[in-house]
Amino acid sequence: MQASASPFRYPGGKGFLSGYLASVTDSIASDERLYAEPFCGGAGAAFNLLEEGKVAAVHLNDADVRVYSAWRGIVHETERFLERIAKAKVDMTEWHEARELLETTPPIGPYSFDVGFAAYFINRTSRSGIILGSGPIGGYRQTGQWKIDARFYRESMSKRVAWIGLNRAKIHLTNEDALVFLARAPDRMNLARTLLFVDPPYVEAGSRLYLDAMSESKHSALADMLQSGRYPNWILTYDNHPLIHRLYRDLQRRVIRVNYSLRTARKENEILVESIK
Ligand SMILES: C[S@@+](CC[C@H](N)C(=O)[O-])C[C@H]1O[C@@H](n2cnc3c(N)ncnc32)[C@H](O)[C@@H]1O
Repeated sequence: MQASASPFRYPGGKGFLSGYLASVTDSIASDERLYAEPFCGGAGAAFNLLEEGKVAAVHLNDADVRVYSAWRGIVHETERFLERIAKAKVDMTEWHEARELLETTPPIGPYSFDVGFAAYFINRTSRSGIILGSGPIGGYRQTGQWKIDARFYRESMSKRVAWIGLNRAKIHLTNEDALVFLARAPDRMNLARTLLFVDPPYVEAGSRLYLDAMSESKHSALADMLQSGRYPNWILTYDNHPLIHRLYRDLQRRVIRVNYSLRTARKENEILVESIK
């Protein structure tokens, strides 16, 4: 299994948990298992599970329309997306244009193919991989050892995008607040055979990396929902923060090490909580 079949780079990406998530899906008694991520970001693990045949379909949700638009372009306008990858000029002019488009697009709003491609372009050409607040690979003057196109691997990116397009019937996308997505989930999927992988923004410093549409009361509402008994199979990862230990005190919490920088081997502790009995 490759590190991640996702076409994105994503700080804190959970592709490395795919093996573990796969073993958990095996414990769900069904031959048509589903997988859902309410905070999908780069969805590091979802496509590994789909590719391996561990799950029959995936539901990906993200509240940020820039992230959602990238996914929707990839899944539903695959040919157009592939053409943009093939023809993209990977230079500082394009980088500034894409960045400008993202900065002037509010996180909540309508789908736009161009915004989606800009988010993907910035993800592949910026140092931390995140769509806002990170400089270009190689620096603004392009004097670094690596240049802006160092991670724009047209061939492998296109392969991943094309594979996703071919499998679009098994991929469901939504652009909702995670709490709304969870509230609607029982109408959309059979929860008894669904594994929910919940990877919210960090309680602390989450906003530095991506849209953080969470607040302390929403972290708390999420904990109530997950522990309500309505969702039989879920796995949650968070920063190792006292609030999370408090909110999930009745469940076992394990510390895991997550590669949090795309540039260095810096790792951070996260905690993993699971409902699975
Ligand atoms: C930690 S990242 C997910 C990383 C992902 N699991 C991976 O492996 O790449 C969190 C994501 O949640 C999204 N987000 C932030 N607040 C949200 C909310 N209230 N509802 C849904 N998504 C939200 C952000 O846009 C971001 O993409």
